[in-house]
Amino acid sequence: MVSQLTDAFARKFYYLRLSITDVCNFRCNYCLPDGYKPTGNKQFLTLDEIRRVSSAFAELGTEKIRLTGGEPSLRRDFVDIIATIRENAAIKTLAVTTNGYRMARDIQHWRDAGLTAVNVSVDSLDARQFHAITGEDKFTQVMAGIDAAFEAGFSKVKVNTVLMRSVNDHSLNTFMNWIKDRPIQLRFIELMETGDGSDIFRKHHVSGEVIRDKLLAQGWQRKTQDRSAGPAQVFVHSDYQGEIGLIMPYEKDFCETCNRLRVSAVGNLHLCLFGEQGIGLRDLLGDDEHREALIARIQSGLKSKKQTHFLHQGNSGITQNLSFIGG
Ligand code: GTP
Ligand code: 5AD
Ligand code: SF4
Repeated sequence: MVSQLTDAFARKFYYLRLSITDVCNFRCNYCLPDGYKPTGNKQFLTLDEIRRVSSAFAELGTEKIRLTGGEPSLRRDFVDIIATIRENAAIKTLAVTTNGYRMARDIQHWRDAGLTAVNVSVDSLDARQFHAITGEDKFTQVMAGIDAAFEAGFSKVKVNTVLMRSVNDHSLNTFMNWIKDRPIQLRFIELMETGDGSDIFRKHHVSGEVIRDKLLAQGWQRKTQDRSAGPAQVFVHSDYQGEIGLIMPYEKDFCETCNRLRVSAVGNLHLCLFGEQGIGLRDLLGDDEHREALIARIQSGLKSKKQTHFLHQGNSGITQNLSFIGG
């Protein structure tokens, strides 16, 4: 089905990133260095609200939903959320982006409930450095979680590594050896500047171009992506079972292929990762009677989506860190 969600620049939206909690139990130094601090008495979307919002997006042509956070698996009803969203036949891909701490224990339940894909953050393959970056001594647990994903039947796992100068930018060979015989898509993400993160950005931002040049010189080839794919440029090589992805939000034209929208854990529609307050949907999520109005609000809200983010001007909008909107 062709998406009914089209913006003023003729972009079509097939992919919804749905945050289900702001809470996170890690303290990644580029995101929540001091840990999650509750503000006010926030009530996150209930299971029924999640059912309504996901079904409205499904009707509008969304074919992929990613559960984000915070750490989505901290929700006690996480398995029910997965099962509820999968009631929509139009949602072909239901994915989660997780810090991985619960995977070893629970991933089989997630898969049984209908999860189809998993992305996990691993910023270092050295346990001590992993601890230093995330504030948690859980490297072994996260690695066991990745093994558990394969055992549970996932044929591929995507791993996110935020590229940081003098931290992990010299470890390309270690990362490449790790994916040589494993079906892992390892994605290097350029560090993005957020309201709270300008110091770390100045110190550690490095362009993914350096890695792209190395990959091309070593015979890696760019692969084409489908219409609901995330923003990574993906490279493959016949000697490697794994793939390498590059997420380069500072590259010219990054936003030309934008195909995704976001809903925050309190039910605001965000047209971009950066830059705006969000359009409240929650007053329409309390019962099924508002379904038509909900659909109309999503469609009309989309008309104000901007062509691109303003990160190049150092403007991260209201985005203090990426935990409240799930990246
Ligand atoms: P796949 O569809 O599985 O490839 O996933 P994805 O890359 O869309 O999802 P994931 O949650 O793993 O995101 C990886 C990184 O890409 C995160 O750091 C996100 O913040 C970043 N990212 C995803 N979409 C956007 C976007 O629209 N704009 C920007 N600037 N960054 C994005
Ligand atoms: N820049 C780039 N990536 C970030 N993430 C969180 N904050 C940032 C940032 N400032 C990443 C996490 C995770 C994904 C959802 O977002 O590492 O992989
Ligand atoms: Fe789309 Fe905004 Fe991401 Fe650009 S930064 S790709 S406009 S969500």
